[in-house]
Parts: sequence; C-alpha cells; structure tokens
Amino acid sequence: MEIVSENLLLPCFILSCFFIFTTVRFLRSSPRSATLPPGPPCLPIIGNIHQVGKLPHRSFANLSKTYGPIMRLKFGRLNTVIVSTPEAAREVLRTHDQALSSRNSPNSILSINHHNVSVAWTDPSSPRWRLLRRLSVTQLFSPQRVEATKALRMKKVQELVSFVNECSEREEAVDISRASFTTVLNIISNILFSVDLGSYGSEKSAGFHDSVLGGMEAAGRPDLANFFPFLAFLDLQGNSKKMKLCTERLFKVFRGFIDTKTAEKSLPNNPKDASNSDFLDAILDEAELDNNDIEHLLLDMFIAGTDTTSSTLEWAMAELLSNPETMAKAQAEIECMICQNGLVQEPDISELPYLQAVVKETFRLHPTVPLLLPRKAETDVQIFGYLVPKDAQVLVNVWAIGRDPNVWENPSRFEPERFLGEDIDVKGKDYELIPFGAGRRICPGLPLAVKMVSLMLVSLLYAFDWKFPNMVDMDETFGITLHKAKPLHAVPVKKKSPLLKHL
Ligand code: HEM
Repeated sequence: MEIVSENLLLPCFILSCFFIFTTVRFLRSSPRSATLPPGPPCLPIIGNIHQVGKLPHRSFANLSKTYGPIMRLKFGRLNTVIVSTPEAAREVLRTHDQALSSRNSPNSILSINHHNVSVAWTDPSSPRWRLLRRLSVTQLFSPQRVEATKALRMKKVQELVSFVNECSEREEAVDISRASFTTVLNIISNILFSVDLGSYGSEKSAGFHDSVLGGMEAAGRPDLANFFPFLAFLDLQGNSKKMKLCTERLFKVFRGFIDTKTAEKSLPNNPKDASNSDFLDAILDEAELDNNDIEHLLLDMFIAGTDTTSSTLEWAMAELLSNPETMAKAQAEIECMICQNGLVQEPDISELPYLQAVVKETFRLHPTVPLLLPRKAETDVQIFGYLVPKDAQVLVNVWAIGRDPNVWENPSRFEPERFLGEDIDVKGKDYELIPFGAGRRICPGLPLAVKMVSLMLVSLLYAFDWKFPNMVDMDETFGITLHKAKPLHAVPVKKKSPLLKHL
C-alpha cells in the first residue's frame, strides 16, 4: 500500500526493535491498557496503519462492524479512538466536549506553522482560539452578517446561472464541481475582501481550486510523520512540500490584499464607510492580530469554506441525476413555488421542504468531512466504560453514522422523503446527522454553507433540465474532504418556461 512503500522498509526495520521494546514496556507498566476500547490486533511498529486504506471512513466503518461503536486503532505510536454511532458521537461531542475538543494536527499543518495561529487547529482553551472564533462568528456568520450578504449570494448565483445558460446554448456539458467552486469562491472572496477571485471556465479559478484541494489532500492523506514525528524532516510522502506549495500561492494573494488595504487605511483623507467594509477591514482593525495571523485566518476560511460547499452541491446533483424521480419532484416543488416573478430568491428556500430534504439527504450520504477534523484527548476520558487515553486522537465517523442501518431505513438509498415532517437538522443537536460536527468546535460556517448549497441547487434545478449520458458513478476520493472521484459533467437544457426569458 501507498503509505508503507518500499523506501520505508529500512527505517521501519531499524526502528522496530526500539518500538517493540518500548511498546511491550508500556503495555506491561500501564494499568489502563486493559480498558482501552476493542480493536483489531496491531502489527509491530505500524500498528494498524495497513488497515487504513485510501478511503479511511469506509475501512473504519467496516472494522466497527466487528469491534463496535467505539473502537481503538493504533497508527504507529498514535492511539486512535473511532466512534461510529450517534450515541457514541454524543459522548465525544457533548458529554466530553471540553476534554476532547483539542485537535491532533497533522504534520503538514505543523510544517506551515498553522497549528499555532489557526482557528481550525489551535487549542480551544487558548485566548487565541477564543479571539479568532469570536471574530469569525461576529464578523462573518452571525445571523445579521449572513443576512447582510444575501444580495451578494443572489448576484453570484445569477452569474452561475448565466454561465450554465451559455453552456446550454452551446449544448456543452458543465463541470458541476468547477462551476460551483467558482461561485462559492467569489461569494467568499467578496465577503472577505470585496473582490471576485474566480471567473467561469478560466485557468485562474482552476488554480485556486487546485490549491485548495492540494491543501486538503496534504492535510488529510495518511502520512508516516503523523505517526512517527521524528520522521517529519524526511517528509516521505511529500505532504509538507505540497502543503507549503499550495498555501504559499494563497498567502501571496492574501498579502496583496492586506498591503493594499493597509496602504488605503493610512491615507489621511480616506474616511472608512462602515457599510462597505468587509472581513479584512474588520480584522485589520484588531490590535491583537498581526499580518501573519490575518493571512492564516484567511487561509482557514478559504480552505474550510470553498471546496466543502461546492463538493456538497456536486454530490447533490449527482444523486438527483441518478434518481430522476426525485429530481422531478424537487423541480415540481420549485416550479410550483416560484411562479410570481420567475427569479429564485433566497427566502423562497424556507418554503421548499422537499428541496431542504434533498440537501439533508445529501449531507447524510455524502458528508464532505467524513471523519470531522481530528480531535485529541486532553485528559483520560471514559466512554461507555472504555478508556480514551490522554493524547489519543479521536475521530467521529460521520459517514458511518449516516449509513448505519440501525439508525436509517434503507440507508444506502437516496430518499429525501425520510426527512419530511421530521425535526432532524444538521445544526449539531441531532447526532445521527452531524456533517458540520457539534459542540464547541462545530463548523462556524454552517449557516452560510447551507444557504449557498440550497441557493445554487434551487437555481440550477429551476432554470434547467439536466442530461447525463451514462450512469452516474458515485466513487469517492478522500483527503480530509470527500470528493467524487470523477468530476460530474452534465448537460444543461434551458427550460421553456416564459418566466425564464430574462436568462
Ligand atoms: C458544506 C460545507 C461545509 C461543511 C460540510 C463543513 C464541515 C466542517 C466540519 C465537519 C468541521 C469540523 C467540526 C468538528 O471538528 O467538530 C468544520 C470546521 C470549520 N469550518 Fe466548516 N464546513 C463547511 C463550510 C464551511 C464554510 C463555508 C466556512 C467558512 C467560510 C467554514 C469554516 C470552518 C472553520 C473555520 C472550521 C474550524 C472551526 C474550529 O475548529 O473551531 N466551513 N467544518
């Protein structure tokens, strides 16, 4: 397998004696080892690394069928506890939220020094995390802030519809992932620094997409340095190199905006119009943040917000194309509702229960962060009578929870109807559906993300019918986020409705 390739055999062999010795000594001396959760037998040195595979969420889901809802694996020296049911997730994210909300930062994140300054990776007990989290919530994601950017989202989604319309006139397929990435990129870049960073069909957007995806992969791909930190300097899988390359491109762009705004602010006759200020204006005024902190905060928002959202849209479209009856039902509901002025408006979404159910069903089957971000135990914790030892990595297998037959009827079928008339939501209270996590580290971008996915979906379904020449494949690829292995290309056909003349 990829992560234990031939060039690792020699160092593994040399280290084996040392590790067998220290592991045996640890097991003998530790009275806690008897109560660790059950798990598959470990090989010397590598532990269970060989059982991770390219799609870890699937491998872990399979193993948990044998070892249960709380399971222990060992990756090199790293104890890892994986939970796979709503009840066990509740224990991690609610009962023991405080002790388990630190992060276990991968080596690639350490290599760019992101763990000390990032809202996504810093220790939540630090004043730094509290400051960054407060800034994100108050300046970006509060209900008032999200409402204030409604017109922007409408405008950017209209641009997506116009682009798709041009493709339909040329009878050309649309790469759903790339197109929706450009839309999300422009929404987020306008919220952050009032600029469009992407344009449809251009290399520029593709470059951003590659950088974000590269960063995600470098953080999420198995890496020996995560399990044997003293191997970090060798960067055997090249994850640190890739992370540096991808993030440096983004930092360069951010630096340009920071310098321009700083220069503008220093002009004597440059009165700031508060109503036009963006996120960068707000954080440049924070005395406690220097330019390095600001660059890393912008990086968090970029990496966490763009690809997760556009991938969700792509999965939703892939499921609808595979389930034409569901697609027809969603379109019928939209057509019936939006008949006044022919333009989709964001508030209309609250009147579309079936569309909302389609979005929830997409999150259930395709949570784009299938293991959440890795947590770390700050102290020993007991879950269901098992010990989660201090410093263990804790993963919540949201993907497995979404497909658990004890929780969901016909779990592998795409059936939005299951949510109709039910109160279940993705907001972190219903542990059977937690694509954004829960507890103090729940995704702060949730309100914005749900609005972006819903608005893009409703607009694409309202204005177009969709053709897909073959079977839609649902293969996945993993790298912190879950993507379609093969990008979805579908051909839009403009609907004949007289209400759509404006297109
Ligand atoms: C469909 C879209 C999205 C999904 C599925 C998603 C999912 C997640 C998940 C699972 C986490 C980790 C939660 C945990 O550890 O319990 C997270 C964290 C985070 N997300 Fe999102 N996210 C999405 C969109 C966004 C957007 C649009 C933004 C911002 C523009 C954003 C910003 C963040 C940040 C800053 C964190 C780190 C929070 C912390 O550790 O304190 N996300 N997201």
